[in-house]
Amino acid sequence: MIKREISMSNTQVFISENKERFLEELIDLLRIPSVSADPSFSKDVNKTADEVAKRLTEAGAENVEICQTEGYPIVYGDKIFDASLPTILVYGHYDVQPADPIELWDSPAFEPVVKTTEIHPEGAIFARGACDDKGQMFMHVKAFESMMKTDELPCNVKFMIEGEEEVGSMNLGIFVKNNHEKLKADVILISDTGMLANDVPSVTTGLRGLSYVEVEVTGPNRDLHSGLYGGCVANPINALAKMIASLHDENNHITIPGFYDKVVDLSDEERAEMAKAPFSKEAYCTALDIADVMGEAGYTTPERGSIRPTLDVNGIWGGYIGEGAKTVIASKAYAKISMRLVPDQDPEEITNLFLTHFNSIAPAGTKVKVTPHHGGEPAVTPIDSIGYKAASMAYEKTFGKKPIPVRSGGSIPIVAMFEKELGLKSILMGFGLDSDAIHSPNEHYGLFNYFRGIETIPYFYSYFTKLHK
Ligand code: BES
Ligand code: MN
Ligand code: MN
Repeated sequence: MIKREISMSNTQVFISENKERFLEELIDLLRIPSVSADPSFSKDVNKTADEVAKRLTEAGAENVEICQTEGYPIVYGDKIFDASLPTILVYGHYDVQPADPIELWDSPAFEPVVKTTEIHPEGAIFARGACDDKGQMFMHVKAFESMMKTDELPCNVKFMIEGEEEVGSMNLGIFVKNNHEKLKADVILISDTGMLANDVPSVTTGLRGLSYVEVEVTGPNRDLHSGLYGGCVANPINALAKMIASLHDENNHITIPGFYDKVVDLSDEERAEMAKAPFSKEAYCTALDIADVMGEAGYTTPERGSIRPTLDVNGIWGGYIGEGAKTVIASKAYAKISMRLVPDQDPEEITNLFLTHFNSIAPAGTKVKVTPHHGGEPAVTPIDSIGYKAASMAYEKTFGKKPIPVRSGGSIPIVAMFEKELGLKSILMGFGLDSDAIHSPNEHYGLFNYFRGIETIPYFYSYFTKLHK
């Protein structure tokens, strides 16, 4: 039953007339340092939740609620006006990564400025969270407002904006488990990923999973004089370096026994389809100032970064790192290691395989402790669903060309959870670019991307409603 066949033209006019305000409001939101990983920002994280709730209310959402959890709150709001129409559940996060290392920012991370860049000639907002995910989340609030103010909202909508995505979404998991009825919907819509380029729109059809561990290697029971004891006992830093090096073979395959057992290989057709997405190795290397790429033998760079699992050291420390030279054999060495997973690898299983293997390769005279951190399952979305089709049509409308389906290398662990708990697939309409420096100094988000996102979202609503019979 189609009750509201809507063109979205008034919505588009409203958007074009309110761009300046939409930008100012995003800048206000970016000024609040909502760093979820660092407890010293807890006041600001909570303040951001209040701000998001206020904006949702202003936009026309009802039942706006700041749902308290054991951690940071989840902001909920909805507009249900006709039970016979489909419901879109919008997910996003208002927390951000720490700004460190702050000395590498050209302007302060929480004092947003608009500057032009080569890739963003019409300007980009520089601030932590500009792209991941405040800017992208706020596009949904402004798109919703634009549909509400023009009476062109074609279906029901629910918002669920969390504040702990960057630290593993632990409490959102519990919230989703306990609120099946409240979160009942027909599709989940998320803008927290990227697209290939501003003139090459794409829709994300897959996310990698994650297994994250911290390792501690202990040698002697105290730090030792490296002259008196050097050469006689296992040096935990030497040992850790060797153990880590052995986790990849000469082809850059991961050596943990069983690691690849559950990896679903793509068919030659699927790989050929993937290879159609434009990719320039030269441009890639130039952008990163590297002489060449490196990765698993037998796969292209785009494949290595999306359909293949990886293992990377994220941090390593131990011993003396102060001024000058101190001759010492440290008692302990540490590293943080992430493994990005693909279907059907299970994060818990992979963590256990890692643990067993890492213990087995520890040289005599060392002890190993492995501590698992948060993880998450990989997720893929089919391209024959009405959700995907609606997204594809929406991009075609605003970009003038069909988006390319692309599997991403990043992770949003809650997406697999949504599928398990709510039985819903997520449509990942991301508008960021890989060059937007998310999680890095000088994170930014193109004004083109911000406004094009706000313009595209209402078309998704409209096409999804039409396709949903
Ligand atoms: N929005 C990102 C994930 C992302 C970015 C996916 C770009 C695809 C393209 C998200 O906020 C994020 O950073 N996720 C973390 C995992 C989380 C458990 C900390 C990640 O991927 O490292
Ligand atoms: Mn994000
Ligand atoms: Mn992130």
